[in-house]
Amino acid sequence: MITLGEYIVAKQHEFPEASGELTQLLGSIRLAAKVVNREINKAGLVDIIGATGAENVQGEQQQKLDLYANEKFKAALEARGEVCGVASEEEEDIIIFNGKKQSHSKYVVLMDPLDGSSNIDVNVTVGTIFSIYRRLSPVGTPVILDDFLQPGYKQVAAGYVVYGSSTMLVYTTGHGVHGFTCDPSLGVFYLSHENMQIPQDGVIYSINEGNYIKFPDGVKKYIKYCQERDPQTSRPYTSRYIGSLVADFHRNLIKGGIYMYPSFASAPKGKLRLLYECNPIAFLTEQAGGKASDGFRRIMDIEPTELHERTPFFCGSINMVQQVEAFMAQYSHEEHPEFHG
Ligand code: AHG
Ligand code: MN
Ligand code: MN
Repeated sequence: MITLGEYIVAKQHEFPEASGELTQLLGSIRLAAKVVNREINKAGLVDIIGATGAENVQGEQQQKLDLYANEKFKAALEARGEVCGVASEEEEDIIIFNGKKQSHSKYVVLMDPLDGSSNIDVNVTVGTIFSIYRRLSPVGTPVILDDFLQPGYKQVAAGYVVYGSSTMLVYTTGHGVHGFTCDPSLGVFYLSHENMQIPQDGVIYSINEGNYIKFPDGVKKYIKYCQERDPQTSRPYTSRYIGSLVADFHRNLIKGGIYMYPSFASAPKGKLRLLYECNPIAFLTEQAGGKASDGFRRIMDIEPTELHERTPFFCGSINMVQQVEAFMAQYSHEEHPEFHG
């Protein structure tokens, strides 16, 4: 049995300039994940479910656990000093760590501390998503916004924690995707899924179909294609949608499938956030042999201009994503702001 800590140390040589900082950083994420996991497991017993009454920068209701997870991840990342700043779904501006050790560190972290938080009250799987970059500004100075506005292909590492029927931490540093399952009696993550590969084809499509009439024509055509009978293939496909990106993605990563959150008229750039939801999931997807797109172009090539910007998102098995891109090219036009036909 190999623990997450042992595995990260054993893989440190894969980074030519590695000084152990990234190893420590992943250790901080592991620690915060355990603390958040413990609290999530108690939801229903203690006063942590439900809304706070406040809204975040996106105008969404903040749940108590959104804030709890945000505080725990921030504190863990600041405490060991391997991170000079953090950006979070729950905070409008970047968080600058001004300590001496922190401002001399070379990494920034972007995170969705609790993904799928509307599921927490009903005991359904939630997650945490993280993305790690090397800063651009000089070490020793306070971190700046530009350090966070980097395209996804520059990510050094990314991953998620899925608080499900078991708790798993899945990450990549650009050398494959590796999954670790937490043994709750010991509080230790053990390597359980080395070198995860997403099947090239899948039979699952995941989308909030309640929004169907508002979708771009290319997406509507693709959904009908998923539902059509084809004696040569496994269609019709199965529809599965949990409403936690992490949980939907995790299932599709293992079984094969496609996750879609397209644009629609009232949300021309969709809902999901590029920097701390789509980019890290895209990095994992590509490392597992899949594809992540906004319908027309590679997610990780998008040059971000805003911390909380959104993008339409299609990701999963390579052949399924290519198929939806073909429908988008045929029936929806990128020039049109809502990608409608
Ligand atoms: P978050 O809880 O971090 O705001 O993210 C929720 C996201 C994503 O996890 C999920 O797939 C999607 O929102 C669900 O949105 P709909 O309810 O609109 O389908
Ligand atoms: Mn989210
Ligand atoms: Mn969230």
